[in-house]
Amino acid sequence: MTADKITPLVLREMKKRGEKIVALTAYDFHASALLNDGGVDLILVGDSLGMVLLGYPSTLPVTMEEMLHHTRAVARGNSRALLVGDMPFMAAGVRVEETVRNAGRFVKEAGAHAVKIEGGEESAPEIRAVVRAGVPVLGHIGLTPQDILVLGGYRVQGRGDDAARRVEADARAVEEAGAFAIVLECLPAELAARVTASVGIPTIGIGAGPSCDGQILVLNDILGLSPGRAARFVKVYADLGKGMREAVSQYAAEVRTGRYPDAGHSYR
Ligand code: KIV
Repeated sequence: MTADKITPLVLREMKKRGEKIVALTAYDFHASALLNDGGVDLILVGDSLGMVLLGYPSTLPVTMEEMLHHTRAVARGNSRALLVGDMPFMAAGVRVEETVRNAGRFVKEAGAHAVKIEGGEESAPEIRAVVRAGVPVLGHIGLTPQDILVLGGYRVQGRGDDAARRVEADARAVEEAGAFAIVLECLPAELAARVTASVGIPTIGIGAGPSCDGQILVLNDILGLSPGRAARFVKVYADLGKGMREAVSQYAAEVRTGRYPDAGHSYR
């Protein structure tokens, strides 16, 4: 672990030193405090909250108000990590002024230190304007879940020469626009390695192999708390879903049989 407080500059120094960046998502106060205790460098309040917490079928319905609500909670539990708020679908990408205003809300109203904006070359004008307005931007290229309707599915991107060249051009555009780091999602490991070597800013991979400057995963995925089949790149470090199911059925059985509450859990 390096600095007392992680800033975009610290992440850049970490890339130079070859020190891996540890990033995870969080959506609430308690998880945020635990991530801080664990020394996580970057906490992303991802719009994945729509799918893993709110039960939406994709990230598209997530609103600015929902993102701000959860970012405030995470900010209250965080003291060290760089806290990044994820710009939800249509909060960025319609008008540059609106994108800047929404990015500013994450900082002013929710305590974020930076925002994440999905998209490569097409998002460069917005990234540039938000950075110019004083809000650091984390880019996000490769598989961009907010494009799910256009992409038609969550698939590995950048396969084949043309697609790989587009990803490399996206990385350059995002760096030139002033982003402090880029998330590379679902890319062949060799392509992610090439992008990582070719840009000066850190890359943070998710399903993009081991050569990225850092890694990010969805907290609920690594804790076995996400519904459905996990993606190939997800590693479940603790199966809390199984633990929760067992605890709930044991509680239900004890209530039904009168074993709970016993004298030790009752007041005299
Ligand atoms: O929304 C999210 O959690 C993300 C990460 C998976 C990078 O965008």
